[in-house]
Amino acid sequence: MSADPKRQAAARAVALVQDGMRLGLGTGSTAAHFVDLLGERVRAGLSVVGVPTSEATRAAAEAAGIPLTTLEETPELDLTVDGADEIDGRLRLIKGGGGALLREKIVAAASARMVVIADAGKRVETLGRFPLPVEVVPFGLGATRRAVADAVTAAGCAGELTLRTRPDGAPFVTDGGHLILDAHLGRIPDPERLAAGLAAVPGVVEHGLFLSLATGAVVAGGDGLVLLGA
Ligand code: 5RP
Repeated sequence: MSADPKRQAAARAVALVQDGMRLGLGTGSTAAHFVDLLGERVRAGLSVVGVPTSEATRAAAEAAGIPLTTLEETPELDLTVDGADEIDGRLRLIKGGGGALLREKIVAAASARMVVIADAGKRVETLGRFPLPVEVVPFGLGATRRAVADAVTAAGCAGELTLRTRPDGAPFVTDGGHLILDAHLGRIPDPERLAAGLAAVPGVVEHGLFLSLATGAVVAGGDGLVLLGA
């Protein structure tokens, strides 16, 4: 077996895939291992269809020979496998480090099951050490930013909001044409309250708190493979 925990977790999740399944395909370096390993099974005869959660995953899935569909053609999925930036003991997640949170959340919500694959470093007691991505429309950015800051404060959190940029300094633009504010909060004592507050801000398209979406997780690391509900 691979020594890379991300690939180990992906390999365990690939074993959950059965013939005929409709899959959500996550985004990020861990999900890329899943797509790669799923491609091996497809080329060996497994029949599945997948909905990619980003243009990057679409390209990787096409290269791996995985048949793709859309949520228009296939609005209900059996299983989504995706990575995460943080995962707590109640399978609550922070996602969006790769900027794909909007499509990731739509696909996860359309799936009967969502299994998270991660290395052990992603497990936390309290969410918030990883900056929380908040996807916003470009129009009205200044006003939206103030309203997001107010929602953060009202949820008992404190910290800086930064506009995500690319390595060349230009704003990072998502696959949907939106911007991302990263909220550096340190800890989020009440994720449900913060999620509700952010969702109520006009101009916020989505945020990276995935609550009541993951049904299981495969975490690989020092203790070997740990299955949480998967
Ligand atoms: C992308 C995501 C990723 O799943 C998350 O950032 C984890 O990425 P990686 O597997 O590369 O650590 O949410 O938007």
